[in-house]
Amino acid sequence: MLKSYYIETYGCQMNVADSELVESILQKEGFQKSDNLDSADAIFVNTCSIRDHAEEKVNSQLGRYDQIKQKNPSVIIGVLGCMAQSLKHNLLENKPYVDIILGPDSYRRLPELLNRKIMKKENLVDTKLSRFEVYDDLFPSRKEGINAWISIMRGCDKFCTFCIVPFTRGRERSRSIESILAEASKAVEDGYSEITLLGQNVNSYHYQGIKFHELLQEVSSIAGIERIRFTSPHPQDITNELLLTIANNSNICNYIHLPLQSGSNRILKRMNRTYTREHFILLAKNIRKIIPDVGISTDIIVGFPGESEFDFQETLDLMEEVKFDSAFNFKYSQRRGTKAIEYDDQIDESLKQKRLERVITLQKQHTLKRNLNLIGTNQLVMVEKESKRSPKQWAGRTDSNKWVIFDKDDINIKDLVQIQINRVSGITLHGTKIKQAEAA
Ligand code: 5AD
Ligand code: SF4
Repeated sequence: MLKSYYIETYGCQMNVADSELVESILQKEGFQKSDNLDSADAIFVNTCSIRDHAEEKVNSQLGRYDQIKQKNPSVIIGVLGCMAQSLKHNLLENKPYVDIILGPDSYRRLPELLNRKIMKKENLVDTKLSRFEVYDDLFPSRKEGINAWISIMRGCDKFCTFCIVPFTRGRERSRSIESILAEASKAVEDGYSEITLLGQNVNSYHYQGIKFHELLQEVSSIAGIERIRFTSPHPQDITNELLLTIANNSNICNYIHLPLQSGSNRILKRMNRTYTREHFILLAKNIRKIIPDVGISTDIIVGFPGESEFDFQETLDLMEEVKFDSAFNFKYSQRRGTKAIEYDDQIDESLKQKRLERVITLQKQHTLKRNLNLIGTNQLVMVEKESKRSPKQWAGRTDSNKWVIFDKDDINIKDLVQIQINRVSGITLHGTKIKQAEAA
């Protein structure tokens, strides 16, 4: 009889949430979580295909599982998520030690496949994508902490030409508002103070006429929710109603992730991003007008096929104009099955690397500049964990999603405290707690 499982998660927050779902399915079947890779009866890895680098990391970990299986042939190895979906043939052919391959819409079948696997020896695969599966009735098994991830929609219909997600996670579908609100209330009862609503295209949520901003408003009204965040939105679906909902509700955090990808209209068009640089700049200005203290982060891809020095400069110019608070910067990575892999003007790796370094350098300056603006201000910070640098200090985030370090004093984890910012180092802010009387 199998008793214990070990699970590892790579990739985005959606995968973290999915792994929690898988854990709840396993625990209902009587499995117990193990923290020891070498002694677990079943090992699962939830995988990511977004860039080549993500797949390489999983592949090297799979090599480790292979060795474990050679020592202990009865251990069951399962590959879940995006790589299971997009690389099933490769896994079947080249990694015979993998027993179970399950795509992101097939997790409900895990107990059945595990039982079948114990009886028979063949490899079991289910990578059927569903138009309906949203795991509505399944609540995840969460780790202790501050934040509860709640998945509200799955899949993506945008088909950006660089992106594998529409192929690995299938069509867009939204979960019922009732089950989202029930899960959020339960998370509050269980002691979580922050909720993060998740979806590949979180703001294209729509369920029986209910739009994303209306869902946000409902979640915001649940008693006891101190902070609400959401990720990842698409710029095209950011409405004024959404911005006003954020501005009008103090527990919805003043933070928006606004993936740019490129500042060149020619490249945006080739990427099928459906907005222009002019739209994007206006949108960023509008966001800052409606939510004055907002933090804006972005994603940028450099070296997309055909990106000239001029196109790349357009990205740098746009960054200068908007001045993001932070950015996740990536070198374009060719993905199987996507349109952009077919473009015949792919960019040299060394040029991609140089452009990446230039974007990173510029963003560092902007992050510093935006953070320096906060010196002397008071920020409401939720205490999340011990600072990595000192056991005498806490680390927490501002409403606008910036990390702040401060002395522990009499402050406890999960407290919401007013911190006066007095120093900036790298991307981190440092501050001191303001006494209640001063804060009032
Ligand atoms: N290459 C590089 N970056 C990519 N992203 C998505 N697909 C690719 C790719 N093929 C980035 C985008 C997206 C983020 C989640 O990952 O910037 O917003
Ligand atoms: Fe990928 Fe574009 Fe969909 Fe985001 S919106 S998941 S980048 S296809």
